[in-house]
Amino acid sequence: MNNRKMSRQILTLTVVVLLVVSAGVSIVKSAAAETQGAAARDLPQWTADGQLILPKNFHHWIYLGSPLTPNALNGGKANFPEYHNVYVAPHAYDAYRKTGSWPEGTIMLKELQLVQAGKAADGSSIESSGRGYFPAGRNGIDISVRDSKRFKDTNGVGFFNFGHHAPPYEKTAAAQGKDKCAFCHVANASNMVFTKFYKPILSAE
Ligand code: HEC
Repeated sequence: MNNRKMSRQILTLTVVVLLVVSAGVSIVKSAAAETQGAAARDLPQWTADGQLILPKNFHHWIYLGSPLTPNALNGGKANFPEYHNVYVAPHAYDAYRKTGSWPEGTIMLKELQLVQAGKAADGSSIESSGRGYFPAGRNGIDISVRDSKRFKDTNGVGFFNFGHHAPPYEKTAAAQGKDKCAFCHVANASNMVFTKFYKPILSAE
């Protein structure tokens, strides 16, 4: 091979390598932007007048568990007879796993889900897996948001209700008064969240 041919080949090879590397870099960059965008979307979004906007994609978040307080065990009138399905945004879940505490911007979202109405006196029904309670329609959303500046008066956590009924839910909600929600979380939860119920999933290998 003569020298000119060889240097042309080296040039072509260099160009190809550069193209491949720069394509790789832009894929990595766009993946990083995607991750950042997703994290930003999962942070609390507020209206101009300080109402919380209902997060859109929470069924893609980390599912932490479902406390259940059925009517049959509460004299026929539980305040929340549904499953309380609790979700947290992935960035807050990752931070909790690393540090053992919930970061600023954590949204805890509890979606209520009705128990299928059964024929038995305790409201239970029988399915092929046995007698018990089985999930039915979605029925409401409660949210807590960790923001030490906005919610100084309630240990840095604000509370919101987006309706206790079937969807569609309210799109925005104003913070609830201390006497509605925060007082009970102050008195009974660990740093405002009932983390003990979510430990089995939070500490899973
Ligand atoms: C009388 C006590 C009490 C009151 C009042 C109360 N909560 Fe809770 N909340 C709990 C308990 C206990 C849990 C965890 C177990 C469960 O869901 O039953 C919980 C769980 C939650 C969760 C899931 C994350 C967590 O902290 O464990 C959210 C979100 C929540 N509550 C929001 C609200 C909102 C919003 C209000 C007011 C509209 C409210 N709570 C009022 C006792 C209370």
